[in-house]
Amino acid sequence: MDLDSLVQRATGLAAGPRRAVLGITGSPGAGKSTLAATLLARLGALLPDGAVAHVPMDGFHLADVALDRLGLRHAKGAPDTFDVGGYVALLRRLRAAEPEEIAYAPMFERDLEQPLAGAIAVPRAARLVLTEGNYLLLTDGRWHEVRPLLDEVWFCDPAPDVRLARLTARHVEFGKEPQEAAAWVAAVDEPNAALVQATRGRADLVVPPAVLESLRPT
Ligand SMILES: Nc1ncnc2c1ncn2[C@@H]1O[C@H](COP(=O)(O)OP(=O)(O)OP(=O)(O)O)[C@@H](O)[C@H]1O
Ligand SMILES: [Mg+2]
Repeated sequence: MDLDSLVQRATGLAAGPRRAVLGITGSPGAGKSTLAATLLARLGALLPDGAVAHVPMDGFHLADVALDRLGLRHAKGAPDTFDVGGYVALLRRLRAAEPEEIAYAPMFERDLEQPLAGAIAVPRAARLVLTEGNYLLLTDGRWHEVRPLLDEVWFCDPAPDVRLARLTARHVEFGKEPQEAAAWVAAVDEPNAALVQATRGRADLVVPPAVLESLRPT
């Protein structure tokens, strides 16, 4: 498997009779967003304007005001700190037989560490929606409603040490002290990673380390 074969497979999904939704999953820091951005750029160059859209699950993070009410601020990123019902509802809208002129999706703003409503526009012309996030293949609670709304799910599976190093570096890049970053990874991200890693067997395709390493983040 290489990147070209993934681009070809995604192009096939975009050529189907109705809009397709491709899920990209994997543990925190696995390279999901980098793969999604790469596919978006590659397919964008091949297909008409607006034919491919990118809607991250990340946009459905609960805001801090909601996390504080639930006493879950310390656990931001865990499965119960997302608005899974909102995500499912948006996926249903995106898959409707008659797609809307524009469907707006929220994004997660990393500097604010908050979701931002209405940030991503999915035009009617979108033939393929890329959606990426940690919990697409989870079966607990309402997460089991996600998989039936996706045409395929690809699982990013990098080398564990590479993933950990990049995840920690990214927390530092976004303002945490190195020690604080390492502590957050150990206490929050890694328990979540274990939940995600356990869903690997349900993926339609596993994206191996070599393909993920060939990507160039922008
Ligand atoms: N091939 C690569 N070479 C160098 N750096 C990379 C590569 N792939 C990803 N990265 C970096 O690793 C970090 C994690 O990648 P990315 O954000 O794509 O992962 P993610 O799975 O979306 O993470 P999260 O679950 O936290 O959203 C980012 O800082 C990204 O720039
Ligand atoms: Mg990401």
